[in-house]
Amino acid sequence: MAEDKGKIAQKAPYVMEVEPGTHAWCACGHSANQPYCDGSHKGTGFKPVVEKVEESKKVAWCGCKQTGTPPFCDGTHKDL
Ligand code: FES
Ligand code: FES
Repeated sequence: MAEDKGKIAQKAPYVMEVEPGTHAWCACGHSANQPYCDGSHKGTGFKPVVEKVEESKKVAWCGCKQTGTPPFCDGTHKDL
């Protein structure tokens, strides 16, 4: 596991219907409010990835935090 990746929150994406607006995806894996940042990254060196969603759509947020295409799942979780 690369050291610049966060802690695994779950080995699967968070697939959900997302409303338009800005969403801060938790990159560190420590948030209690997955897949979103709750400020728990403080002191870890991680920062959330802020994604602007233009219209309501289904999103597969990476839950394992090891994706090569943050904040989205790219299938990397299957190899964990
Ligand atoms: Fe992280 Fe799929 S959940 S790559
Ligand atoms: Fe994980 Fe903010 S709590 S990036």
